[in-house]
Amino acid sequence: MLGGLARRATFLSQLRRERGNIILVDTGDLLFSRTSAQILNARQIGAIKADLFIKAYNYMEYDAFTPGELDLSFGVDNLLQLSKQANFPFLAANLVNIKSKEPVFKPYIIKEIQGIKVGIIGLISDRFPLGSAEEKEKYRLTNPFKAAKKAVRKLKKQCRVIIALAHMEGEEQEMLARKVRGIHLIINGHLTHHQRDPIAAKHRTQILVAGARGEFIGQMDFFGEKKKLYSRYQLIPLKESYTDHPKIQELTGQYKTNLENTLRSSLQAVPAEGSATARQEIATPPLPLLVGEKVCFSCHQQEHEQWLTTAHARAYQTLVEKNKTSDPYCLACHTTGFGSIRDPSSSLENVQCEACHGAGEGHPEPWKSLKDVSETQCRVCHNIANSPNFNYFIDVQKVRHAKLPNGRESIRKE
Ligand code: HEC
Ligand code: HEC
Ligand code: HEC
Ligand code: HEC
Repeated sequence: MLGGLARRATFLSQLRRERGNIILVDTGDLLFSRTSAQILNARQIGAIKADLFIKAYNYMEYDAFTPGELDLSFGVDNLLQLSKQANFPFLAANLVNIKSKEPVFKPYIIKEIQGIKVGIIGLISDRFPLGSAEEKEKYRLTNPFKAAKKAVRKLKKQCRVIIALAHMEGEEQEMLARKVRGIHLIINGHLTHHQRDPIAAKHRTQILVAGARGEFIGQMDFFGEKKKLYSRYQLIPLKESYTDHPKIQELTGQYKTNLENTLRSSLQAVPAEGSATARQEIATPPLPLLVGEKVCFSCHQQEHEQWLTTAHARAYQTLVEKNKTSDPYCLACHTTGFGSIRDPSSSLENVQCEACHGAGEGHPEPWKSLKDVSETQCRVCHNIANSPNFNYFIDVQKVRHAKLPNGRESIRKE
């Protein structure tokens, strides 16, 4: 994704040279990652990523951005704060301040390109929940279709082309096309898996999909004379075909260093339970401490020996090979209890004992029995996206300790 960013910058500077004037937009889920909200120093990690993207988008001269639900992970106030660092407007016609009834961000903007005025509206699905109770009292996502109608009514008078940046699910985009006449293009945010078809012409409104994780650029060209305007859409894969832009590479380099420093402190030496920082960042009740597989080994050598033969014991190495050890999204499943509180002396690389059995603090005191492992526990990581062929009844046989590799039986050491 980050490599994609530097290639995107190269592509865009070429395109600008060729075409002169372009309009650049992004439809959201940009600033924060999927796991960001649940992990311990989430805010810190989130801020580092948001900073990178805002700097990079400022540099690439983006024209508009519509936030998605992930961008709202840390609340509307946080996003407002971030928008002040951006040289491009955040657009959301249906995110309103309840008291003033006014949109929090601009509902739309008008851009002019070779004499043609283009109206761009930002919309967010009202199915997404807004953060804390406090935020819910202050802000609301209102009906996006009504907000779109209102914006289109105003834009129609001046604009030749009307575009909606729609961070919503596929069926809602189709509903938007059906319900709100006058929108020429809907640019899809929030990619859902069943949307494979890049262009679906519906009700004279085109719905464009630009692909996930910044690996593609969707490029729409307009051409024609005064009376008739034609458009042509193409998806351009950024994989390997463009070199990395040095300026963006410099930014991603800084980002990686910042992130690694933060993550190192989170993986190895997270504040012990009860310390000021831990109390501040973790919701009550306090989670039990993770102790790490080395502690389990001291009493359960045979289970440990068997565990070492499984892919779980190499899960972190997989990320090392893919150069992904600083991606919080990957770490959530390829390490143990990512973001939880742990004993500072332990390391939680790999899918360890406690990923399946739960935190070991207090065990084996009689009051702290470690739980049986259920299918639900596996499904936390073996979800449809990352483990489509997972079959509990077959796969649990591969991780059970009873059958040791050399055929011995599992004997518990007292
Ligand atoms: C000090 C020795 C010791 C350590 C360290 C230890 N265990 Fe145990 N464990 C035991 C004993 C003893 C039992 C048996 C308890 C019983 O049968 O009532 C046990 C039982 C278990 C069980 C069976 C369920 C239960 O709770 O009775 C699991 C699962 C387990 N341990 C996992 C772990 C894991 C995971 C770790 C590391 C986080 C760990 N153990 C660390 C001694 C230990
Ligand atoms: C914390 C996340 C996590 C949990 C919980 C988890 N797994 Fe995994 N599992 C992984 C990861 C990650 C891999 C891939 C490791 C690698 O090769 O990098 C994996 C790999 C496997 C594999 C090997 C797949 C193969 O064909 O090579 C099996 C089998 C498996 N898990 C079964 C289970 C079962 C059964 C459970 C529940 C009892 C479970 N896992 C719980 C993350 C998890
Ligand atoms: C939701 C949990 C989850 C996340 C997030 C996740 N993985 Fe995995 N990953 C798994 C599981 C589970 C497996 C085992 C899949 C199987 O064989 O069924 C796996 C397997 C893999 C494998 C194949 C390992 C092998 O050698 O067979 C690679 C490579 C991998 N993951 C890399 C990544 C990278 C890179 C990321 C981040 C971009 C990532 N994963 C994010 C759960 C996850
Ligand atoms: C992928 C999930 C998973 C991981 C990781 C895992 N276990 Fe287990 N463990 C199980 C399952 C499932 C059982 C249930 C026993 C069975 O059905 O064979 C179990 C049972 C146990 C038991 C009860 C006695 C026995 O052998 O059946 C102990 C003790 C135990 N595990 C210790 C450990 C230790 C120590 C580690 C880390 C080295 C570990 N487990 C890692 C899934 C896991």
